Amino acid sequence: MALLQILHYPDPVLSKKAEPVTEFDDDLKQLAEDMAETMYAAPGIGLAAPQVGVSKRMVIIDCAPKDEPAQLTILVNPEICDAEGECFEEEGCLSVPDYYASVHRHSKITIRYQDLTGHAHQAEAEGLLAICCQHEFDHLEGILFVDRLSPLKRGIFRKKWQKLQARQMEKM
Ligand code: NI
Repeated sequence: MALLQILHYPDPVLSKKAEPVTEFDDDLKQLAEDMAETMYAAPGIGLAAPQVGVSKRMVIIDCAPKDEPAQLTILVNPEICDAEGECFEEEGCLSVPDYYASVHRHSKITIRYQDLTGHAHQAEAEGLLAICCQHEFDHLEGILFVDRLSPLKRGIFRKKWQKLQARQMEKM
C-alpha cells in the first residue's frame, strides 16, 4: 500500500480523456488499493485514476456516512446508461482544494461498470452517490466540476484560485 500524490488543477492530466482499462491484473488491483488509501487519508468520498496521474478509466467511491462502516465501490470503465431528475448541490474536489460550488447534475442514474476481475455490473444510484458518480466519471472525460460552472462563476473561481495559489506561494 502506498499513498499517491493527488494532482491539482490545472495539471494537464486532469483535462485529458482517460483510456479504457483492458488488463484486469494485479497492477490494477494495486492501483485501486493505493487509490483507496489515498482517498481515505485525504479524506475524500471519491477519487478517479487521472487525479493520481494515471489516465485510465477507473474510479473509487465511498459515500457511507462517517459513523457507518466503509463502503468502498471500485468502478472500472464506468458509464451512465440512463439518467433522470435534476439537482444542484455543492461539490468539492481533491484536485481543487479549498473551493466549493454548486453544480447541476441528474438526481438519479443507472450505471454500467466492470469490477476488478472484469465482470460487468449494472446499478442504480441516487442522492449523494449519484452526484459523486457523475463528478468522478467526469474526471475520466477530462472534465472538472469547475468546468461545469456558469461563465460568470468560472471567472470568479479563476480569481479566487489565483489568490489561493499566491497565498500558498507566500507560505513556501
Ligand atoms: Ni474530483
